[in-house]
Amino acid sequence: MSQIDGLIKMVNEENEKRHSKKNITRVISVASGKGGVGKTNVSVNIAIAYSQLGKKVLLMDADLGLANVNILLGIIPNYTLYDVISNKKSLEEIIIKYKENLDIIPGASGFYQIADLSREEKDNLINSLNKLASYDIIIIDSGAGLSDNVLSFITASNEVIVVTNPEPTALTDAYGLVKAISLTSEETEIKIVVNMIKDIKQAKTVYKKLYDVCYKFLKVEIKNLGFVYEDEAVKASVKKQNPFILSYPDSKASQSIKHIVLRLEKLDHILENKKGIKNFLEKLFK
Ligand SMILES: Nc1ncnc2c1ncn2[C@@H]1O[C@H](COP(=O)(O)OP(=O)(O)OP(=O)(O)O)[C@@H](O)[C@H]1O
Ligand SMILES: [Mg+2]
Repeated sequence: MSQIDGLIKMVNEENEKRHSKKNITRVISVASGKGGVGKTNVSVNIAIAYSQLGKKVLLMDADLGLANVNILLGIIPNYTLYDVISNKKSLEEIIIKYKENLDIIPGASGFYQIADLSREEKDNLINSLNKLASYDIIIIDSGAGLSDNVLSFITASNEVIVVTNPEPTALTDAYGLVKAISLTSEETEIKIVVNMIKDIKQAKTVYKKLYDVCYKFLKVEIKNLGFVYEDEAVKASVKKQNPFILSYPDSKASQSIKHIVLRLEKLDHILENKKGIKNFLEKLFK
């Protein structure tokens, strides 16, 4: 049995033990300072890897611009969250069952601004989203940059995964995002994924650089969630509109994602202030 298979077995056993306990939905946003660093690929493939571990996963596309998740998965949704907000459809009607254990809330191109919703629209959304408590984990692809909407999603989540790549511009923008998050919410745990690395040495150097500036100037201790190799399998799978963890399960990028999920799972056990979907909604619409 490989090391990964061993770890997967361990997680499965742990899951079985946890099923008898009270389960709280874990809400994780995936964000980045700079665009195009790999958020959607990371979100989609983590969501699939999680679902393969037997967790009930919801992937939500909250990107303001292009509806990214649909494109990576080759899905053309009939309805979006906007139809729920305007009370035209129920949440059940817009959720796409992508595969076993993995549901998707498709993104609305030209998404609404949360701040601009009327009281009635907010209530529609809150009432619907409260039903999401049956999921073990909700992953939100929240878009690049520092808009109010992106920050609302991030700071309402218990945890955020900040994706960056090794380029100096991406790192500077990742620092800017960590700063904005830490100024808005001290509670949100910030975890870093360095994407498109050439080797582990580079990954460690990049992570340490970011850790050091965040600690020095913000007194924030970011956490290292892992790395994803630069891999042709990612580009090929984007073209095929089939996530790399499915089309190239043994690729370096897929192995990286599996490590990230196992690490997330490990960190879950020490996450004391997990508050679930209710807390997420209260914060999102406060
Ligand atoms: N690990 C990787 N190896 C090789 N190429 C990658 C990798 N990760 C991402 N890419 C390339 O970068 C492109 C952008 O990735 P992705 O769409 O996931 O980024 P994003 O951060 O979601 O972008 P946006 O800000 O526009 O939403 C992919 O289409 C792919 O070509
Ligand atoms: Mg994206």
